[in-house]
Amino acid sequence: KQQINIGLCGLGTVGSGVVKILENHQEQIKYKLGCEIRITKILVNDILKKRDVAIDPSVLTTNVDDLIYNDEIDVVVEVMGGIDNTYTILEQAILQKKHIITANKDLMAVSGAQLLQLAKENSCDVFFEASVAGGIPILRSLSDGLASDRIQKMMGIVNGTTNFILTKMTEEQLPFASVLKEAQELGFAESDPTADVEGLDAARKMTLLANLAFKMNIRLEDVETQGITMITEDDLKFANQLGYTIKLIGIAAINDGKVEVGVEPTLLPNDHPLALVKNEYNAVYVYGEAVGETMFYGPGAGSLPTASAIVSDLMAAVKNIRLGVSGNSYISPQYTTQLKDNKE
Ligand code: NAP
Ligand code: HSE
Repeated sequence: KQQINIGLCGLGTVGSGVVKILENHQEQIKYKLGCEIRITKILVNDILKKRDVAIDPSVLTTNVDDLIYNDEIDVVVEVMGGIDNTYTILEQAILQKKHIITANKDLMAVSGAQLLQLAKENSCDVFFEASVAGGIPILRSLSDGLASDRIQKMMGIVNGTTNFILTKMTEEQLPFASVLKEAQELGFAESDPTADVEGLDAARKMTLLANLAFKMNIRLEDVETQGITMITEDDLKFANQLGYTIKLIGIAAINDGKVEVGVEPTLLPNDHPLALVKNEYNAVYVYGEAVGETMFYGPGAGSLPTASAIVSDLMAAVKNIRLGVSGNSYISPQYTTQLKDNKE
């Protein structure tokens, strides 16, 4: 195929970043893939909405069938969010033999295993790098770069919004509500930011990381989760006076076959590497039995960083299409049948 056609679900913060990267980096993408990627249809809520990207209006649709039952479309890129309705869309797309790229941690943390199983049965790929830590290629690093190792522990800042809020509250003494509003305006926060500030978004990401790193079947409800809504400006000030920084930290560790995953505000000495991660940036510390300590750092939210992960996933899917291989996500095709349950 000289051209791969995609259907894009969503043209918001991340979706417009995808359009920009496909446009601005098209020469490099074509050079690396040997073919072009064209956006055939884009699903949105409101066709008349003003957009910050130039789009041929005939490409926009509010009818998902224009993507799912469109024989031209090879890959569906889902960057619209939501769970139940979105699961149905992706399920139908897979049944139509479309490969899936998604940024949707809400969906993947709860129904990822089902979706991967369905994709396997239909010889499709499901890639979801953008769902964890924005632009940091952490899923690919766990599955490829650290493939030979036994991961024992991960610890990280995996929510950009809360890190942005804690940073601005500490360094600029700004109140919680106004910084949250700024994070929303910058496109970092979820459409309902409760998931960010109550720690649920970080819990979803830690679940995805733990299941991938430990090949487990951790359920979201088993993740001890506490957000940052109880943290006051005084807490941050007193911590700072004592030489500490408060960060929302996710931890996942395996010990004798039992995995523990949790998310909570944590006091870190000011010179701790994770204390130095500011604003919407994320970082994930990974300890592997052979490699020892590694650290992954970068922008954890925002339009172009997240879209960079999406388009890189898209290129991986296109490579597979052109090689005629499939069912080849970050995890082996056996993954979904070999998950282990956590020890009681
Ligand atoms: P957003 O700015 O709110 O954009 C959502 C887009 O999806 C909009 O274009 C909207 O259409 C469209 N949409 C939503 N529901 C729809 C429906 N039922 N039918 C048709 N179109 C629908 O969201 P976002 O920040 O780009 O986030 C998208 C996804 O990426 C979410 O799953 C989020 O968790 C994930 N994510 C976001 C970030 C980030 O930094 N923002 C980072 C990593 C992952 P209209 O434009 O017409 O309203
Ligand atoms: N709301 C999320 C965050 C977006 O702030 O980290 C990136 O997943």
